Amino acid sequence: MKKYDVHMLELVEKSEIAKNIFDFKLKNAQIAKITEPGQFLHIAVPGMVLRRPISVCDVTDDCIRIVFRIKGDGTRRLSEAKKGDMLDVLGPLGNGFDIEKGKTYAFVGGGIGVPPMLYSAKRAEKAYAVLGFANKDAAILCGDFKEAGCELFIATEDGSFGVRGFVTEPLENIIDRVDGVCACGPIPMLKAVAELCRKNGKPCQVSLEERMGCGIGACLVCACKTHGENGDEYKHVCKNGPVFNAEEVAWNG
Ligand SMILES: Cc1cc2nc3c(=O)[nH]c(=O)nc-3n(C[C@H](O)[C@H](O)[C@H](O)COP(=O)(O)OP(=O)(O)OC[C@H]3O[C@@H](n4cnc5c(N)ncnc54)[C@H](O)[C@@H]3O)c2cc1C
Ligand code: FES
Repeated sequence: MKKYDVHMLELVEKSEIAKNIFDFKLKNAQIAKITEPGQFLHIAVPGMVLRRPISVCDVTDDCIRIVFRIKGDGTRRLSEAKKGDMLDVLGPLGNGFDIEKGKTYAFVGGGIGVPPMLYSAKRAEKAYAVLGFANKDAAILCGDFKEAGCELFIATEDGSFGVRGFVTEPLENIIDRVDGVCACGPIPMLKAVAELCRKNGKPCQVSLEERMGCGIGACLVCACKTHGENGDEYKHVCKNGPVFNAEEVAWNG
């Protein structure tokens, strides 16, 4: 059954939480009520033909929070929206993380892959947040994860905050304590996290990114190769994902 629709969301709060990273609070009770962790919004940007996909970072009362980094023209224009502006949003889209009741999860985020883990972590009975950044200045949302009751582990590439290195190091130290792992971030990170989970026999869900057109499974722009029951098959990141079981993903294309 189609649950998504086009909604108008009011930008009620806006801040730049790190250089070129924006935190928007968008108000619309109707869409907030049905949005699940790991889903995304497809946001129309004035002057651009294609919408831009941005993950749901959090949902509180009648608001959805998104956190995005300026990458090109679309996200730059989005960052210029003003408080009180109405954003044209198609959503909520995609299949999010499957968080089972009573289980313990590690939520692993790398860089701009961190935001979608916050609402997801809030759903878990017990949550470890394992967050990786380039350096201390790029670190975002650490206080939010703490406030959400997560046990927090930080890794930075230059060692300026938390441990020096990649998220896989702190994750390896706690993997025995969790029932499953959810991850979002760059492909090499996801691949390494998936491999660590495989070795330790832990289920792993990963959120993938692909360029998108329609966002609803109609245009084939976002195809990704997966291992199906009858051999390799292409799935849509927008409709079948963005969250997939790591074992399903054809990591080497
Ligand atoms: C499911 C999903 C969730 C996402 N969640 C977030 C998020 O929470 N925060 C965040 O900062 N970014 C997120 N992204 C990435 C974000 O969509 C891109 O950075 C953005 O579309 C870039 O648009 P642009 O016009 O600024 O850049 P340009 O590079 O000028 O974009 C040109 C075209 O390529 C597409 N594109 C470029 N980079 C990406 C990318 N990495 N993924 C998908 N399409 C891309 C654009 O949508 C546009 O159609 C997400 C992507 C997907 C697929
Ligand atoms: S974006 Fe059109 S099928 Fe996924």
